[in-house]
Amino acid sequence: MKGVWKLAPDLALGKAAVNSVVAWKYPDFGRSAPRRSPSRPHALGEGTLAHPDLAVTHGLTVSPLIARRVQELRGRVRVPGDKSMSHRGLIFGALAVGETKIAGLLEGEDVLNTARVMRALGATVTREGEGQWSVKGVGVGGFAQPAGTLDFGNSGTGCRLVMGAVAPCPITATFDGDGSLRKRPMRRVLDPLERMGAKATEVGEGDRLPLTMQGARDPLPIVYEPPAASAQLKSAVLLAGLGAPGETVVIEKEATRDHTERMLRHFGADVAVRPHGEHGRHITLKGQPELSPAAVRVPADPSSAAFPLVAALIAGTSEVILDGVMTNILRTGLFTTLCEMGASIETLATRDEGGEEVADLRVRASSLKGVDVPAARAPTMIDEYPVLAVAASFAEGETRMRGLHELRVKESDRLAATADMLRVNGVETEISGDDLIVRGRGRAPGGGTVATHMDHRLAMSALVMGLASEKPVAVDDMSFIATSFPDFVPMMKSLGADYS
Ligand code: S3P
Repeated sequence: MKGVWKLAPDLALGKAAVNSVVAWKYPDFGRSAPRRSPSRPHALGEGTLAHPDLAVTHGLTVSPLIARRVQELRGRVRVPGDKSMSHRGLIFGALAVGETKIAGLLEGEDVLNTARVMRALGATVTREGEGQWSVKGVGVGGFAQPAGTLDFGNSGTGCRLVMGAVAPCPITATFDGDGSLRKRPMRRVLDPLERMGAKATEVGEGDRLPLTMQGARDPLPIVYEPPAASAQLKSAVLLAGLGAPGETVVIEKEATRDHTERMLRHFGADVAVRPHGEHGRHITLKGQPELSPAAVRVPADPSSAAFPLVAALIAGTSEVILDGVMTNILRTGLFTTLCEMGASIETLATRDEGGEEVADLRVRASSLKGVDVPAARAPTMIDEYPVLAVAASFAEGETRMRGLHELRVKESDRLAATADMLRVNGVETEISGDDLIVRGRGRAPGGGTVATHMDHRLAMSALVMGLASEKPVAVDDMSFIATSFPDFVPMMKSLGADYS
């Protein structure tokens, strides 16, 4: 089907959207021949969990990079698999009894850390080919006592979801991460998990990592209303609810990405989802199911697609096609916003892949205008604000992005860091309460060096900006891009990006 990107109504959470969750099912996918050696070289990691497939590949050296203006970007690419689904595929595979096959897994460091942790908790996790993984699970409540600290690197999603999965198991585990993850709040996850019977026996200063959690011997189901619109929080409670008898209920005021609910159902759990209020959802999970292994096919990550997409919109006379991008309505707020700004984003083909709607998108360089982005849209584009701010710099007029308080607790304080990224490159910007205001002039001077604060999305956003700004844009360190989009630089270069 051909046509321009349909403007999704903000949070279309009527019956159709909710029922699509209830009726949702992954199709099967074919097995590929197992391959012994990884297709890309991986440095060997250290310690008992080291494995050539799961080695740490960054963090040792700081790598600056400079982006320079180009005439155009052109070509067709498929960005890597969705990060949220990749984490969940591994975790659900580990909680099922039997073997789960995953295709299209994102082989970024965040996800590899989750794979490593699943091994440490007793699952058998094997890489069989590029993006092809097998997980032999231990069953709900079956995690083994890990021998060492569970290290999640840069990943809040991996850490918080696994905290939920460990909470109803009679084991004690220590959770840790890198300098960025150690700054992020964990009390918000510990509160509901402690209500369910888990106990934080040691917690870092300010309720941060490293922390040690003793899982519950007799986990309790709860009715939980997350204090923030956070899929990580919701998912932690639902994963803990798997191990509790009776019904665990999560009531979201604002619906967040629903991959956990979809995957629960896909692996055979009994989950009911209904609308709640204007923008919310009421989710009920029956605890202590036996999860059955299920094939998982991971579509291309819309949050990663955002970078080449915005680059194509702002750079010269670009035209880029992005293949197989997931268009789950709870993930597409950026596309909606860009279309309101005047972006040319054409849907070439839509289809179902792995139980998610996906589309090939043709993006053409466009004249953009400033818009007002409502706070209610934030959960559907929470990771995309830095790159939207870049697009807004090249738009004519003011863009106001409302209600961005959650950005302060991402891999960095993304609200402050995004404003700094623009300012250092000569773009007029202001933070007003929780809103980010960008005064676009249709062009950006550039010429700055962006501090990326161990944040992959800031680094990629700055490297997108430099492809269209008058002077080059430098980043202090691009190494964290490997957490979510390891091939970002070569893929962008294949489209014509000038990075050195
Ligand atoms: C994610 C949820 C979001 C998002 C993160 C992935 C998930 O975090 O920012 O990149 O997979 O559940 P919050 O739940 O903290 O908003």
